[in-house]
Amino acid sequence: MCGITGYVGLKNASPILIEGLHKLEYRGYDSAGLALLKDGKISVCKRTGRVANLEAAVAGDNAKSTIGISHTRWATHGGVSDVNAHPHVSSDGLFAMVHNGIIENFRGIKTFLEERGYTFKSQTDSEALVNLIAYHFKNRTSDSDENRFLEAVRKALRHVEGTYGIAVLCPLFPGTIVAARKGSPLIIGIGKNERMVSSDVLGFAGRAQSVIYLDDNQVASISADECDIVSVSNVPVDFEVKDVDWALENDDLGGFKHYMQKEIFEQPSALENAIRGRISDDESTAKLDGLNMTPSELRQVDRIMFCACGTALHACKTAEYLIEKYARIPVEVEYASEFRYRNSPIDKNTLFFVLSQSGETLDTLEAMREARRKGYKTLAITNAVGSTISRESDGGLYQYAGKEIGVASTKAFTSQVAICLMMALKIARMRDMSFSEGRAIVEALKELPRSVAEALKQAPLIEKIAKKYASYEKFLFLGRLDEYPVALEGALKLKEISYIYAEGYPAAEMKHGTIALVCKECPSFLFANSDEIMSKVVSSAQEIKARGGSIIVATHDPKAFEGLADDIIPLPKVHDAVRPIVSVVPAQLFAYYVAVERGCDVDKPRNLAKAVTVE
Ligand code: M6R
Repeated sequence: MCGITGYVGLKNASPILIEGLHKLEYRGYDSAGLALLKDGKISVCKRTGRVANLEAAVAGDNAKSTIGISHTRWATHGGVSDVNAHPHVSSDGLFAMVHNGIIENFRGIKTFLEERGYTFKSQTDSEALVNLIAYHFKNRTSDSDENRFLEAVRKALRHVEGTYGIAVLCPLFPGTIVAARKGSPLIIGIGKNERMVSSDVLGFAGRAQSVIYLDDNQVASISADECDIVSVSNVPVDFEVKDVDWALENDDLGGFKHYMQKEIFEQPSALENAIRGRISDDESTAKLDGLNMTPSELRQVDRIMFCACGTALHACKTAEYLIEKYARIPVEVEYASEFRYRNSPIDKNTLFFVLSQSGETLDTLEAMREARRKGYKTLAITNAVGSTISRESDGGLYQYAGKEIGVASTKAFTSQVAICLMMALKIARMRDMSFSEGRAIVEALKELPRSVAEALKQAPLIEKIAKKYASYEKFLFLGRLDEYPVALEGALKLKEISYIYAEGYPAAEMKHGTIALVCKECPSFLFANSDEIMSKVVSSAQEIKARGGSIIVATHDPKAFEGLADDIIPLPKVHDAVRPIVSVVPAQLFAYYVAVERGCDVDKPRNLAKAVTVE
């Protein structure tokens, strides 16, 4: 989704801004632009397509500027064009602004401004805001305030409905960037005699030694050596400066062709990081101090509600099976975007959980805020350290999976499920689970990185199978029990990176309608790793075979599918509790190799963004 970088310091801003935009490319975008202050004027360059196009366009410009802002745009209001790309400049030429988010009342603002002589070039909502800033600057009541620039931005923002992360330049203040946020992340990076802003800490990777996370409704005035922050209603803000651990933000491809591939293969170490220090051998349980809950508080929990989006929602659905099975607590899972407006009834002793790799997904963040408003304790599992969700939740657990850059989420899913399993274990051990049952799960968790590494050894076989099926245009993914959410996740992976229509279904439910899709042109990918219901999944395979559909099966029991499945992916036999974490691996690899075979841009699939920070 849209990305922001800004720089003020002693160095040439343009290459630093371009470098920052390259770092944000993984978020997904369709155009890029930058604005610099040169000779007392704003100089803007914008290009559709890749950041490389913008880089080529500014390459010949040798005039140094030490301050600038830049942006990658993911179109919401107005098509993909140079004119709709950011930065936008106010019609009086005094302000340049980059904006992430959506100004919902932009039409009203635009009409108000048009009636007062302001003109507009683009179809964007953002252009209304930069002109509103210009309006408030022009109509200020006093000239005495040194902070006239910040004041104009602050006053304009008071009239904005919607979400924003913005960075603004003004040639009358050649050493200052004003930045603000509401609902869309913005971070200030601190270096030696330089400050940066970005919507993602990776935007100033390696440059900033420490950072300040802006909170909602805060406006910052940033110069090379200083930073002042006030609230939109003009109350000074005490802010915290935090060190950055760049080791966690490593974005080196390390010999892999794509980030998605690298991240699939990083899963054993990501799981080790998720589990490390969180299990107790002596007590056969999990230690989850981040939850900030006493044992008696945990014992009072009657219900758990999970909200998330996309892959994180599939992790929640997997958690539902695990928690209900082991901890015997009812679990409800809801799309964050639905929860927010549905006003679902929640029981008194409900623990409200959100899962989010980025910790910035707006629907998830707002669902969490809604639950907090209603007085529920909200907990979060996030991967991005310092993200908005992690900061605003009452407690939570970091995944420590390392930066996930591929738009298709992989290692975040498995590490979220592993953490949810530890939660199931902890709650179960406080209730009915025996020491020895707990012990078996602890052992399975300790073994899990090796089990996943074992599953990854099937990559060459899966690549071959993927080549065979890469030209098909529809697919079914089928699984039962905790492998049903795995089927949903398998279908999502294939859809998002190879643009093949795929549906995830509970295997037995297929015969109630979806079986109508089964034919020679629609292969099925089955997950069959539960001995309890193995014969039932075999029956589903038979029903598919009888209708001419090809079958790929990922199973620890290849014999059960001999002569029935067209392609068998053997998996290690693992404890039921960790099964979904192992089963999902062949589906991730299959989607990856199909996309590569079809020549798709694996890490930057069309229309998608890594962190979805708009509604
Ligand atoms: O950062 P989050 O986990 O909150 O992201 C949620 C979804 O946007 C994300 O999982 C999305 O569905 C991925 N593209 C899936 O691969």
